[in-house]
Amino acid sequence: MDYTNILFSKEGNIAVLKFNRPKALNAVNPDVFREMNDALDKIMSDSSIRVLVLTGEGEKAFVAGADISHMVNLTPLQMKEFSRNGQAFLFRLERLPVPVIACVNGFALGGGCEIAMACDFIYASDNAKFGQPEITLGVIPGFGGTQRLSRLAGKAMAKELCMTGAMISAQEAKDIGMVNRVFPREKLWEETMKTAASIAAKGRVALRAVKECIDRGFDVDLQNGCNIESEAFGLMATSPDKKEGMTAFLEKRAPEFKGDMY
Ligand code: CAA
Repeated sequence: MDYTNILFSKEGNIAVLKFNRPKALNAVNPDVFREMNDALDKIMSDSSIRVLVLTGEGEKAFVAGADISHMVNLTPLQMKEFSRNGQAFLFRLERLPVPVIACVNGFALGGGCEIAMACDFIYASDNAKFGQPEITLGVIPGFGGTQRLSRLAGKAMAKELCMTGAMISAQEAKDIGMVNRVFPREKLWEETMKTAASIAAKGRVALRAVKECIDRGFDVDLQNGCNIESEAFGLMATSPDKKEGMTAFLEKRAPEFKGDMY
């Protein structure tokens, strides 16, 4: 598939996906999701990819939300379908077997904020702005915002942001636990890629297990969460990366992980 709404590239073993509708501040519509899903299929079938970085093309936006010109005339069933379509893409990001970093380089509003929250963590530029402004359009978040925001920042903060539609700065988003780190705008890409490279050098099997344990464990009680962890910990013994990591430590050298799957 040729892409016109996204840009897909690889930098070594790091995949980079960019929302590429800068004239509409990268607002997302069904075409964007179609192309993104195709790119995720490619990432899933390329075992050399260790990390995915998601960002927005242009100076101003990560994604300024779902495309309002697409939504304005949708019927109830079409609205529901659009919501399900977006949610399905976000679940795919969450379940992708490689870590996904959101590199938020400007506005992350509505659907854009929701996409960022479905990534494993968010790095943001100091000029980035976050928010769920749907209420100002007479609607509500539709790509999981009412759910993921309350899980990330607590129910009261989620209600305030979704009820006021207010935009918050990157620093405020960090203060409420939505963003991991904030960088000066000109440093954001370099810092994101530095972290991506650090993660990409780790064992693929163990990275996948960390992601699964934290995500699957988050929605269950502590005992069941710990059971999920023990199962995954046990499975690590089947990975050559375990032997390599521990042997390298004992031999006082850097490990070379091959990333074999169990
Ligand atoms: N959908 C469609 N087009 C959008 C858009 C969106 N979400 N956000 C921005 N654009 C377009 C603008 O219409 C404008 O297009 P034209 O040049 O053709 O007029 C262009 O992008 C540039 O935008 P502005 O001129 O408005 O730029 P600004 O710097 O003055 O303001 C902004 C930036 C504050 C982000 C403002 O564009 C804005 O408020 N955008 C809408 C944000 C929003 O409400 N997002 C939520 C959408 S609903 C949603 O996402 C539902 C869901 O959960 C699924």
